[in-house]
Amino acid sequence: MIANTPLIPVLTTIDTVRSVVRERRGTVALVPTMGALHGGHLALVEQALNHADTVVVSIFVNPLQFGAGEDLDTYPQKLEADRDALAPLQSRLDATDPVTARIVVFAPPVAEMYPDGQEITRVTAPAVGALFEGASRPGHFDGMLTVVAKLLAIATPHVVVFGQKDAQQVFLVERMIRDLNIPVRVLTHPTVRDDNGLAKSSRNQNLSEGERRSALALHTALSAAASESLNGPPAMRAAGHNALEQDSLVRLDYLEIVNPQDFLPVADDHRGPALVIVAARVGATRLIDNEPVVVGAPY
Ligand code: PAJ
Repeated sequence: MIANTPLIPVLTTIDTVRSVVRERRGTVALVPTMGALHGGHLALVEQALNHADTVVVSIFVNPLQFGAGEDLDTYPQKLEADRDALAPLQSRLDATDPVTARIVVFAPPVAEMYPDGQEITRVTAPAVGALFEGASRPGHFDGMLTVVAKLLAIATPHVVVFGQKDAQQVFLVERMIRDLNIPVRVLTHPTVRDDNGLAKSSRNQNLSEGERRSALALHTALSAAASESLNGPPAMRAAGHNALEQDSLVRLDYLEIVNPQDFLPVADDHRGPALVIVAARVGATRLIDNEPVVVGAPY
């Protein structure tokens, strides 16, 4: 089944993705998304276009990675707007033909991905998958890794592109690809932000105007922590926490300094590369962000 509207072919079955990929010459990149595309996603697609001839953008709100009481039912779904957002990046004249278009969307229904429901073989994240995002969202990373493994098996891309905004996700995907010997190269793209510093996120749409202002506290806290990088992890944590306590609409989940090598909290005397990670609830919306730093060096 291939439904064509101007410029962006949308494939809805696994078989069509496989046959389109098979018929192509050149390299293929996969950009996995859950849709409601924004500038962050589009930057990933542009990076993918620079590294492959064909870019498969998957748009699939994966029920497996949402827990009970999470926002699966209200997660924004806007396939038409997503096609419009991708259209300016589609450069070929014969772009409506899925076999020659550079960008194709794969937007399967849930039953195409999970015909047997959720009683399926899953990928299990290593222990670090139970920390941070995994602590607040039990099972989230197993569900995320499972769908990413499926998408990689379906599209068999040469490269797959992820955003650094979801740092723990990138860490775990890279681990899975190494642990399961999946033959694909991972590219990461730095976090794309609004002019005021707010990390772009599909969930930002759920914020009221006031909440949007409060959401800036995450970025402010990361900057405050990073600006203490010369003074070490305890000073960084204190500065980050202090910045988040200023806004009563923001409820902190975690703010930590982790080692990019193992994604575990660094020791107080750690020096060298680190990642300041933060998660907080602003009203009903849960947001995450992070900032790379070098502890012991000026920011
Ligand atoms: P989603 O939240 O839609 O994000 C899709 C990709 O876009 C991820 O790699 C994410 O890190 C990246 N991204 C989102 N916001 C970004 C920003 N502001 N700057 C840079 N990159 C950004 O992450 C998922 O979907 C899902 O877990 C998925 C991997 C698709 C599996 O279901």
